[in-house]
Amino acid sequence: KVYPTADEASIDVAHRISHLIQSKQHNGEKAILGLATGATPIKVYRELVRLHREEGLSFQNVVTFNLDEYYPMHPTADQSYVSFMKKHLFDLVDIPTENIHIPDGTVPADQVHAYCEDYERKISSYGGLDIQLLGIGRTGHIGFNEPGSAPNSGTRLVTLDDLTRRDASRDFGGKENVPTKAITMGVGTIFKAKEIILMAWNEKKAEIVKKAIEGELSADIPATYLQLSDNVEFILDQDAASLL
Ligand code: GLP
Repeated sequence: KVYPTADEASIDVAHRISHLIQSKQHNGEKAILGLATGATPIKVYRELVRLHREEGLSFQNVVTFNLDEYYPMHPTADQSYVSFMKKHLFDLVDIPTENIHIPDGTVPADQVHAYCEDYERKISSYGGLDIQLLGIGRTGHIGFNEPGSAPNSGTRLVTLDDLTRRDASRDFGGKENVPTKAITMGVGTIFKAKEIILMAWNEKKAEIVKKAIEGELSADIPATYLQLSDNVEFILDQDAASLL
């Protein structure tokens, strides 16, 4: 779906999430959301916060699982995805703290494997993700599933691509300060979501969006795996869609 602007697209996505939350609430159920970080989803979160403040949307029945976190990373660090999510959503709505799950960037190296298996188990224990939000990195990564990731990969520790670290360098005051690793949900984890929404805005993403949608399926561009799923929507602004 191509929207004239990222604002209009983000508001639409936020309203879809809000409807899901409300219909689950109506049935006495929980809404299980897979959330993403980065600049792309910020306006979706802004609209959800507005709906909470102005229209009484409650997050009491919302359970969230974030896609990824840098490793190592302390949750209180400015650059952590924990800080990002608190700033843009969690501290601004009424979600119960125990409903929030973000990969822990402080797990000791010898426990990461078990930790990642547990993260997968927790998602399954809620019956899986109702919606997974995604952005796309310029390497074609989804979450932090960099080139080379397998289509059935699970939550795991990965090494970040050089381009990804360069793109993150502004947040860290130089590429040398960007962690070399991250914990990410796998492509397989993402695929289990009932609905996947990949968002991309502006012309900087046009080339990778074209490759992801029209390119040949390839481990070199993990976002091409999304072509295999019937539950995926690409939500784009005109600029991101300009090469399609
Ligand atoms: C990071 C995140 C991804 C995100 C990507 C794009 O690498 N781990 O989940 O999709 O950045 O970021 P942005 O939305 O800022 O372009």
